[in-house]
Amino acid sequence: MDEQKKIPRHVAIIMDGNGRWAERRKLPRKMGHAEGCKVLEQTVRDAADLGIDYLTVYAFSTENWKRPADEVENIMNILRDYLKDAKNFKDENIQVQFIGNIEALPEDIVLLIRDAEENSREATGLHLNIALNYGGQQEIVRAA
Ligand code: FPP
Repeated sequence: MDEQKKIPRHVAIIMDGNGRWAERRKLPRKMGHAEGCKVLEQTVRDAADLGIDYLTVYAFSTENWKRPADEVENIMNILRDYLKDAKNFKDENIQVQFIGNIEALPEDIVLLIRDAEENSREATGLHLNIALNYGGQQEIVRAA
């Protein structure tokens, strides 16, 4: 088997450990989330370069709303900044789609999400799925 054939078609990642990363360095949790976002950006580029077809990232679960309000606000702001750069997806030939209960997110974020999906729809490279406001229990209820 040549090297190319060993590349998986679909990779899924749960964004986790941001808090622990920060705590270990005696930094505030928000710095852990900022770092997690940087790592995500690099991971997306690496996945595209490797020729992976689908990358699914579980970024923010329904459970995560229970975190302190300032932490949730910080995560939403990181998400806003990430989405504002979304035009880069099209330039990098990445098609981005969001899964989860998107409509329940803050309105400005919903608009940024729909823009990012629309702008990158024609891209033919990596398919990036980002799960936001997702939950296993919720999926079961919806499927029933
Ligand atoms: C888990 O780390 C991570 C989160 C709850 C939020 C991650 C999401 C972002 C940083 C927003 C950006 C997302 C995108 C798609 C740009 P944790 O705090 O649970 O870490 P711990 O398990 O070490 O406590």
